[in-house]
Amino acid sequence: MWAELLPVGRSAASGGYRRFAWNSADAECRAWFEQQARDRGLHYELDRNGNQWAWLGDPAGEGAVVTGSHLDSVPDGGAFDGPLGVVSSFAALDELRARGTGLTRPLAIVNFGDEEGARFGVACIGSRLTAGVLAKEQAYELRDADGVRLPDAMERAGQDPTAIGADGDRLARIGAFVELHVEQGRYLTEEHPVGVASAIWPHGRWRFDFHGEANHAGTTRIEDRRDPMLTYANTVLAARKKAKLVGALATFGKVAVEPNGTNAIASLVRGWLDSRAADEATLTALVEEIGRAAAERGERDGVKVGLTRESYTPVVDFDGPLRDRLAARLGGVPVLPTGAGHDAGILASAVPTAMLFVRNPSGVSHSPAEHAEPADCLAGVAALADVLEDLACQ
Ligand code: GLV
Ligand code: MN
Ligand code: MN
Ligand code: MN
Repeated sequence: MWAELLPVGRSAASGGYRRFAWNSADAECRAWFEQQARDRGLHYELDRNGNQWAWLGDPAGEGAVVTGSHLDSVPDGGAFDGPLGVVSSFAALDELRARGTGLTRPLAIVNFGDEEGARFGVACIGSRLTAGVLAKEQAYELRDADGVRLPDAMERAGQDPTAIGADGDRLARIGAFVELHVEQGRYLTEEHPVGVASAIWPHGRWRFDFHGEANHAGTTRIEDRRDPMLTYANTVLAARKKAKLVGALATFGKVAVEPNGTNAIASLVRGWLDSRAADEATLTALVEEIGRAAAERGERDGVKVGLTRESYTPVVDFDGPLRDRLAARLGGVPVLPTGAGHDAGILASAVPTAMLFVRNPSGVSHSPAEHAEPADCLAGVAALADVLEDLACQ
């Protein structure tokens, strides 16, 4: 089943994936998920927020055990971030059936829509809508880089956007959610290729608008320029320096320039900051400091700086008893925090939630070079099967 998914949305040029919410590659991934469900005789369901579910047992039953992840990617993402969790979920269900495990609770596999936020700028849209932390009105305001509104993109893909919104009844029927994910760091070892998550660092996305003045690159004296690129570049440097000082992370990975001509001084530079820290006070102070540095530099450069928070996820401490239960069931595996966001982090506010991590030896992720060893992936499936068996047979 992994082999069928592998070519979907893969760019021949970069070798990375371009599976963005509601695009054609996303549709192929969704068709793949539905087929996996039907091949296994599972009850297939598409919810009001575009999340897909495959049920073993009664979807209306109480105390369901849910596993899964996402199939979308960042621009030129790797093969594992997201899909490893979904594929491992189907493989773990196969394993439980092979073991002849008699489940006493409904078991479901979920593919959450638009986890990466690559198209509309907000991550985990499917789980955020479900949990009610992204309101329908806010979702309706979201647009992609071409100006396409989220509801229009949904509609074109055959999903009714008028139905989106909090799905509390669904969450109330879930007894536990366990997401398996590639680790995206270098903390797991060959000896311990599977770990349990303790927490997710608070993180968010902020947009900086640097407004300068467009002018001729060949005729405008240096001292007459109001060049927003200069302010942007200095803000990138300041962000890195300030983040390093407090042991946090600050990344400008996306930028848009107007008018974007080689021989024109830019009129506007938009830079998106992704920042994360171990605690919320550090993160808030860091972003404030970066904002101050940008404004000060803007004053020197004659550039007006605007700062808008586009999304924010508070710190997530995963359910203690569930985390300890998983760690005990798996025989004392490493328990570690992560700086990466996940649907599990969103669900944790409403449902007892835990995560399993599978080693990726280089720690490279959000890149075509992302890799996990087959043996480690199999260890992940075995661990997930053990955990699901433990949770769904009580
Ligand atoms: C999602 O993968 C994120 O942490 O940005
Ligand atoms: Mn990711
Ligand atoms: Mn992911
Ligand atoms: Mn993610």
